Amino acid sequence: MPVRKITDRVHWICSLDAERRLFDELIPLPSGTTYNSYLVRGSVKTALIDGADPGFTDELIGNLDRLGTDRIDYLITNHAEQDHSGSLPVLLDRFPGSRIVATPKCVSFLADMLHVPADRVTAVEDGAILDLGDGELSFTHFPWVHWPETMVTFYKRDRILFPCDLFGSHLAVFDVLPADDPVLLAEAKRYYATIMMPVRSAFAGKLPLLDGLDLEYIAPSHGPVLREPAKMIATYKRWMSDKPENLAVILYVSMHDSTRHMVMRLVSALANRGVRTEVFPLAVGDAGRIAAALVDAATIVLASPTVLGGPHPLAANAAFLANLLKPKARFAAVIGSYEWGGHMVEQVKSLIPSLKCELLGPVLVKGLPRQEDYASLDRLAEEIAARHGTI
Ligand code: FEO
Repeated sequence: MPVRKITDRVHWICSLDAERRLFDELIPLPSGTTYNSYLVRGSVKTALIDGADPGFTDELIGNLDRLGTDRIDYLITNHAEQDHSGSLPVLLDRFPGSRIVATPKCVSFLADMLHVPADRVTAVEDGAILDLGDGELSFTHFPWVHWPETMVTFYKRDRILFPCDLFGSHLAVFDVLPADDPVLLAEAKRYYATIMMPVRSAFAGKLPLLDGLDLEYIAPSHGPVLREPAKMIATYKRWMSDKPENLAVILYVSMHDSTRHMVMRLVSALANRGVRTEVFPLAVGDAGRIAAALVDAATIVLASPTVLGGPHPLAANAAFLANLLKPKARFAAVIGSYEWGGHMVEQVKSLIPSLKCELLGPVLVKGLPRQEDYASLDRLAEEIAARHGTI
């Protein structure tokens, strides 16, 4: 497990999980991930900020030993999810004088999920400060990033923000990168889309609190440490805003090409009207890439054949996922081919109650599309372009 000095007082201990390909048994991780821990050695007290996934506990302990860590006073736990907290039971045993420091809600989560002993935890209120001797850690409750018990930790002495999952990326890179690095940004967006977008309205009001901090680094719990952190905060504000871009995301599945012909016509018709499109075939789609595209989309088009009276199961799954992710899209449309009827539109509508979208169309075609069907798709493109003009 690599270790790197960030400042004289702060070491980054990185559990590099380059082989992991799935998170939460749902989200593809094409670039692996990291679980980052930070050892902060004050002149009097020592703190470890965030732990590691349980599978990396031995490596984490080994690196703490190699750094000559004979004592940890505080195990700062910004977030209770096990990819960071899972190593806590072993850390508590290895460092018997240590205490977990977390929000009150996090303390209760840790008791439930890891059975940590109540006499080894300290619950901190919003705004609490912990003195390490020649520098302080301050804690700001930041609920719903992305669980309700979260907080961020600020080390003012070295101007480092430790926000756990917030501003992270699933990228197995052990480096300090500028916050506008293009590779980092692509992964950070994918991460935001799958982890943070569903709860953006719950923590949006907290983000301005970070504007007042004079930051040198953001040190998240996944992915690279960030230089020029104001750029990432500004990027998050843009992603989290309610204003979408002139973009239609088209999610499609086609069994015998009729629906695919419709999609290609719609793509062409939208392009000719100045609407950017991103097109995802659901049979081979990557849920992370789809989620990232949904961050900015003004319109979501679901294209599916009718299967046993409803949408193809892949299309139903995509609608369900979009509903969970709660993107800012303002318009949605269903298109597709059928032969003997069904209730596809009604069923799709029932899957997306959380999307605040105006439904356009639909365009449903019996069998292989005819000229009049292509004309209907052109009219749908016209309608989408007109609506985008009002954004
Ligand atoms: Fe990286 Fe929500 O845990």
